[in-house]
Amino acid sequence: MGRKKVLAGNWKMNTSPEEGMALLQALKANLHPTDSLVVYVAPPHVQLQQTVKLLREKSNFYVAAQDARAEASGAFTGDVSISMLAAMAVDAVILGHSERRLHHQETDAVVNAKMHAAFAAGLIAIVCVGENLEVRQAGNHLGHVWEQLNASIQGLDSKHFNDIIIAYEPVWAIGTGEVASPEQAQAMHQHLRNQLASVYGSDAEEIPLLYGGSCKPSNANALFAQDDVDGGLIGGAALKVSDFHPLFESLKKV
Ligand code: PGA
Repeated sequence: MGRKKVLAGNWKMNTSPEEGMALLQALKANLHPTDSLVVYVAPPHVQLQQTVKLLREKSNFYVAAQDARAEASGAFTGDVSISMLAAMAVDAVILGHSERRLHHQETDAVVNAKMHAAFAAGLIAIVCVGENLEVRQAGNHLGHVWEQLNASIQGLDSKHFNDIIIAYEPVWAIGTGEVASPEQAQAMHQHLRNQLASVYGSDAEEIPLLYGGSCKPSNANALFAQDDVDGGLIGGAALKVSDFHPLFESLKKV
């Protein structure tokens, strides 16, 4: 049956409630995810409730938050906890996105604590990793990204292999229009999968590995056709159904 394919839309800090609602209605009408090709939607926190409500009866659509804090409660003004997301029936949480790492100084250790909190709350963790341009140019990207991933998922138990999705997002490709070539994506994904298997055993090969970074209809076929690319984490092209739907169709074909 093979690995699950995953298409995830990260709306970032975009969309008004009305725009979000319209986008969800269009997704619901046009995309028909299955058990083997699932779709995640990650709206801003303030739209999680309407998203959960709207997608509730449509199976194989899942709702993800874009981040949350590991502590269950406390004096953390402005933050939202993972257990609060669980109480809202949110399914998943994106962790360690490069924009969180950059603007909120999130370290691998912070991401790791959040991953364990997500599992404890019954949420899926979508863990993001990726190198910046200097690392890529120096040719150290494979080792660097594995180190980042290894530290971010420390202590991952095999019972949670179904609760984790990994997204490789080269920082130089996020929102830049610059995309990793299919070969670059495949080389990284293959490396990460091999490393996961060598540290966590061959069952870890089933963990979905998504590519993210300027993925759009014109480049998706070639990326998704790579053996170790199991789907995408999509930013800009997740904001319009006329872009997101073709991505879903590309992934369905492979
Ligand atoms: P992008 O963003 O598709 O706009 O490059 C991807 C992401 O940051 O998840």
